[in-house]
Amino acid sequence: YPYHSPSVADDLIKTAQALVHPKGKGIYATDETPEALEGVFMGSFGVGDPKAGVLLDEDEKKQRRVRWREAAYKAVSSEYISGVILYEETLLDFGLGPILSNKGIIIGVRANGELAPLPPKSTSEFIVQGLDDLLPKLQAARVSGARFSKWRVPIACTDITQGLPSQIALEVQAETLAQYASISQQAGLVPIVEPDVEFSEGATLERSAEVHEKAISLIYERCKAYGVLLEGTLIKPSFPQPGLKHPSRAHITSQEIAFATATVLSRSVPTAVPGVVFLSGGLQSTVATQWLGALNQLVATSLPTSPFSRLPPLSFSFGRALQGDALKHWVKGEDKEVQESFDKWSRACWLAAKGDLAE
Ligand code: 13P
Repeated sequence: YPYHSPSVADDLIKTAQALVHPKGKGIYATDETPEALEGVFMGSFGVGDPKAGVLLDEDEKKQRRVRWREAAYKAVSSEYISGVILYEETLLDFGLGPILSNKGIIIGVRANGELAPLPPKSTSEFIVQGLDDLLPKLQAARVSGARFSKWRVPIACTDITQGLPSQIALEVQAETLAQYASISQQAGLVPIVEPDVEFSEGATLERSAEVHEKAISLIYERCKAYGVLLEGTLIKPSFPQPGLKHPSRAHITSQEIAFATATVLSRSVPTAVPGVVFLSGGLQSTVATQWLGALNQLVATSLPTSPFSRLPPLSFSFGRALQGDALKHWVKGEDKEVQESFDKWSRACWLAAKGDLAE
């Protein structure tokens, strides 16, 4: 490996593999910004409920975030969860990483910064900031116990007549992800590149699949240009799917999603990449786990001659789909139900990633 010493390369490869093995294990994403998490808390209380936190000061809000993260990390089991992605605040200020690492769960950190309009002034496409000071930030995260990181880029997706994503946006996102991945490996952290193709518009499944394939292919082209050690990386894509404004969305089947997803991945993800971990992207927990389960069943029943049989482990890196129910119970102080919800959904994700029928 020209850009890495044998021991660093070995470390990156082993960590990447450990995040998707044994088959079924996956990642729990808890890297919402503090502002986004406050929004989720507010939304979990009824409108006008004084407990929602309108009157809390900054310190009280921070204490509430600490309590939620702590409860969540205590509840998750290393039987189903291989890694957890933390927001910088949780890792560096709250110091909650050891709750996870003491259970054998690998700690990751969110690397990407905030969004800014794609120049000159796009309202629908965005660049992702944060490359400038990335190396010291990731080095500090490693000192605090992190072993992997992730960087999300949003990719607009409309029907062909509206023409998004633009070619320039796809190129910028691929370039950013490749630079990030290279810097992350320099800091000794496995990079997870996250192309998040949006589904809010009117694209068909075919159009969404086409955009996914193009975006992912470009990402690997640029990763190779930057000497990224692909064996020590993972990818976190969205599922190709019809947009919310397309009529076919109402009757799309899990099998159709699975076929489109396997086709896209087999065409665009190099076999050197050891695993794929999907984001849930606001899908209902049942839908996200069904799609993942259908995909793994498709792969498991593919003939050895099919390209699908050569795909790497296909697992999850879910945020909302894993914690949504638990959080609704937590804000009401229902501790037993918090534990039950985490058990239920992490087991459902684990079964789906193994290709077992959801129970
Ligand atoms: P969701 O599964 O809620 O989309 O979160 C995953 C994630 O990390 C998004 O960046």
